[in-house]
Amino acid sequence: MIRSQDLAKAFGKVQALNGLSLQVGKKEIFGLVGPDGAGKTTLIRLLCGLLIPDQGKVWLMEKPVQELDKKELGYMPQHFSLYPELSVMENITFFGSLYGLNQGLIRDRADTILGLTGLLPFKKRLAEQLSGGMKQKLSLTCSLITRPSILMLDEPTYGVDPQSRKEFWGILYHLNQEGMTILMSTPYMDEAELCHRVGIINDGNLLAMDSPDSLKAGFPYTILEVRAQVKNPHFFAGVPEVVDSSFFGYKYHLFVKDREAGEQAISEYLARQQVALQAIEPVPPSMEDVFVALVKK
Ligand SMILES: Nc1ncnc2c1ncn2[C@@H]1O[C@H](COP(=O)(O)OP(=O)(O)O)[C@@H](O)[C@H]1O
Ligand SMILES: [Mg+2]
Repeated sequence: MIRSQDLAKAFGKVQALNGLSLQVGKKEIFGLVGPDGAGKTTLIRLLCGLLIPDQGKVWLMEKPVQELDKKELGYMPQHFSLYPELSVMENITFFGSLYGLNQGLIRDRADTILGLTGLLPFKKRLAEQLSGGMKQKLSLTCSLITRPSILMLDEPTYGVDPQSRKEFWGILYHLNQEGMTILMSTPYMDEAELCHRVGIINDGNLLAMDSPDSLKAGFPYTILEVRAQVKNPHFFAGVPEVVDSSFFGYKYHLFVKDREAGEQAISEYLARQQVALQAIEPVPPSMEDVFVALVKK
């Protein structure tokens, strides 16, 4: 459904994307995961045909992106501009008429989508009076008004409270069940777990692309989860057996090549530093761990 080949884009001296190829199948939920500045927005704009690549090509539904009927593509940009002084329904009507949909059709479809997003009781409320989560749902409603086959969302849950994020994901799963292909970007590793497949992107490069389970299965180290009375992300940097680490404030994930040698080295190091070891045990990798290992490689 979505395919890119060797996409590259520079802004002046900044190489935002370095020849990126990906493929997203029909009815997939694909997550583009990476930190700020990784190139997610640039890639999504290229995939939507809103930016011209320096190099490479994009196909949507087997057609070059420029030839696609734009009604087939829903796009929710990172900073969606709703009209604050217009109501929920007026925003939707405005958006729908940009695509040439007639008023009756917009009204019918809006009711269905607003029912799905839980905004039906707020049709007359001004956009500026909506909460952050509700604004995102309204943006989503607008991008769905043409009944697209493909939906691309750029960090739709950024800065949204956990409850609204959960609801938002519920809506995405529902749309996907009905047949929609979804590509979304997120800086949150826990959201990567919710996607069928993810592409991990950093510095304009695709570091890996697979299902969360396969990425975790391919993790090359043992992870020792360590709890100790010390809060310093770099505390274990001096232990040669520790290849890398993620720090979670109250616990550490230390990557080691060998479990026994690792446990011994870490215990001895803590004893030398006179820090009490509260717990140490092997744990399966999280997406956060997978990301850290890929970036450092
Ligand atoms: N219009 C632009 N002009 C100059 N630099 C840009 C522009 N858009 C993006 N960049 C740069 O390209 C890189 C990738 O940005 P972006 O695609 O927005 O990343 P992300 O969405 O992952 O945060 C960053 O270094 C960013 O500063
Ligand atoms: Mg972005």
